[in-house]
Amino acid sequence: MERLQKVIASAGVASRRKAEELILAGKVKVNGEVVRELGTKVSGDDVIMVSGEIISKEDKVYYLLNKPRGVVSTSSDDLNRKTIVDYIDTDKRIYPIGRLDYDTTGLIILTNDGKLANLLMHPTNGVEKTYVAKLNKVITPTDLMILKSGVEVDGIKCIPTRVKLRSKDIEKDKCIVEITIVEGRNHIIKNVFMKLGYLVDKLTRTRYADLTLDNLKSGEYRTLTVKEVKRLYDAAK
Ligand code: URA
Repeated sequence: MERLQKVIASAGVASRRKAEELILAGKVKVNGEVVRELGTKVSGDDVIMVSGEIISKEDKVYYLLNKPRGVVSTSSDDLNRKTIVDYIDTDKRIYPIGRLDYDTTGLIILTNDGKLANLLMHPTNGVEKTYVAKLNKVITPTDLMILKSGVEVDGIKCIPTRVKLRSKDIEKDKCIVEITIVEGRNHIIKNVFMKLGYLVDKLTRTRYADLTLDNLKSGEYRTLTVKEVKRLYDAAK
């Protein structure tokens, strides 16, 4: 059972807020009866009509995008900046699963499958995400050990599943660290390194669950296969 406004929104008829307005305005019927209660729950068997038209359940779509730098990862932006949704050629109302910062590049999934998005974004269902971070100076062996054992950010310890010093350039005093975490707090990687005294000059997400960027160039995307979607559902359990 799902809330009526959510079903209307995921059918692509209107945004969630507009769907609520339509319900309150008496424009929505469930099995022939006008329903004005916002909390009404409906199932897949219920016939829902909006302004006299029966709505059909929208097909679910799943995309994997290699997000470029300088793009916001929301569906719309108040400042009219380019959003990741602008890269995808679809007429469906899609949104990203989680966020990457404006200046972070790499793997992000977009879908209209709210159930999968909720499962994957729920803190207790953390799937592994791998990031490659270029730091403003070479990380010391001690800090690398501290990083591996976990760094507290806002009172919660972020314990990586894996940390690997990929390369270091002593002359330029820069290094590249690969780090895998399961949590999804905003700016978490930058904040973890900040706590240790490093700035992240460049950040890329290279893996989400078992999905990788493969050969996708910046700004390119592909659709996920049915098997990949199933694996994402399994990973979120
Ligand atoms: N952590 C960050 O600091 N930024 C991101 O974009 C993702 C994870």
